[in-house]
Amino acid sequence: MPDATPQLPAAAVPSLGPVDQVRVLTRVLLGPVLKGPIVRRPTAVGLAERIDADAAGVAEMQRLRSRHGAGPVQLRLPGRRIALLLDPEDVHRVLNGSPEPFSPATLEKRGALNHFEPGNALVSSPQQRLSRRPFNERVLETERPVHGHAEQMSAVITEEVEALLGHADFTGTLDWHGFAVMWGRMVRRIVLGESARDDVQVSDDLRRLRERGNLSYLMPQNRRLRERFLGRLQEYVDGAEPGSLAAMVARTPATAEAHPVQQIPQWLFAFDAEAWATFRALSLLVAHPGAADEARRDMSQVPDLPYLRATVLESLRLWPTTPLILRDTTTETRWRNGLLPAGTALVIFAPFFHRDDATLPEAHRFSPDLWMRDRDDDDWPLVPFSGGPGMCPGRNVVLLTSSLVLGELLSRRELTAGKPLDTGHLPGTLSPFSSTFTVRSR
Ligand code: HEM
Repeated sequence: MPDATPQLPAAAVPSLGPVDQVRVLTRVLLGPVLKGPIVRRPTAVGLAERIDADAAGVAEMQRLRSRHGAGPVQLRLPGRRIALLLDPEDVHRVLNGSPEPFSPATLEKRGALNHFEPGNALVSSPQQRLSRRPFNERVLETERPVHGHAEQMSAVITEEVEALLGHADFTGTLDWHGFAVMWGRMVRRIVLGESARDDVQVSDDLRRLRERGNLSYLMPQNRRLRERFLGRLQEYVDGAEPGSLAAMVARTPATAEAHPVQQIPQWLFAFDAEAWATFRALSLLVAHPGAADEARRDMSQVPDLPYLRATVLESLRLWPTTPLILRDTTTETRWRNGLLPAGTALVIFAPFFHRDDATLPEAHRFSPDLWMRDRDDDDWPLVPFSGGPGMCPGRNVVLLTSSLVLGELLSRRELTAGKPLDTGHLPGTLSPFSSTFTVRSR
């Protein structure tokens, strides 16, 4: 059954000419692929920062919109038909229409994620999603701003940030490497339990599997490594250490089809995105006069943290960690300018909607207020966590834990950025990997 939409032109959605197609491929789609969709390549991210690659992508999308109106527009590649969305209304329609007729389990995602989590919600059929998505929501307590394990999470964060700052005091600098080591320990304790703090093997196995995922179908699967990795996760679930998400997995009822253990790699993997967003949020707070003080004041409102949560959302608006939100059409779909056949890849290039200065006056400035006022989802083009039935079920865990890390860092030390940030017009790309902060006691 074709899905119902406005007008009924029988022609296909317009395709781009060869020159425009090359421009879109190089300026919009290539960047996220080279940076590493599943595990980031810091060198490629650094290069993208130097050439401000995401700003070029946004400008290209604006040019397409001025030529083609609200779109969408098609690219015809050998073996793959891709449609780019140009209008927020279409973004909402697509995200709200998951998993049918707009499936999150796209060809490319299945190729990438099957390396380490073939039973995950994200790469499931609509039938399989019926058990896997609710399982994620129950463990991550999607609708609760403050997770039931918040106290344990907060205690872990206090300890790990203290250890990190002890190290930073010694060198005088907080850099990505130190932050990432702290982050890995924190995530393993929160997700798997106390005994996983120093289990770098489990993180390393996942990193190796994700590196294969970066190349999707081009790389054969390493089943032995995947089995070892998933087996280790099963041991943590069996151990069910109190206060860990693994313990919640153990006690949450699930059918075999829900594959509880295979939901965990996505959490471990997605916490990486949170690390980048948190380090960038720290850059924002340190660069804007008064922002660090406002963040410190927020710490008297634990666990609500309204300003810090809005800051994390701003970090994700300015530099979305899922720049390409993808859906595959499962049936023929009708758009204002024509039809798209089943099997078309739909691309939502988040930086375009988040940084569109034609529609968003605050596009390039740090504006936490955007997230603190009432808003109407219909005209809201910001989708850092996606939207609709496929929206990130971990978003509240992210906002809580990221805010706590930022609050702990800033209330304990005075931080100064190693490289200045142009606060009048924030860059399109910001690499967290090269950010450094000078650390002084308060
Ligand atoms: C900054 C951090 C994060 C961001 C920006 C983020 C964003 C997203 C986005 C955009 C999606 C949808 C992907 C798609 O449609 O293809 C997603 C899905 C998902 N996220 Fe997150 N995420 C983050 C962290 C987390 C964390 C820490 C967890 C778990 C603890 C998590 C759990 C999930 C799961 C399970 C899905 C799949 C949902 C489904 O298929 O229904 N995420 N996330």
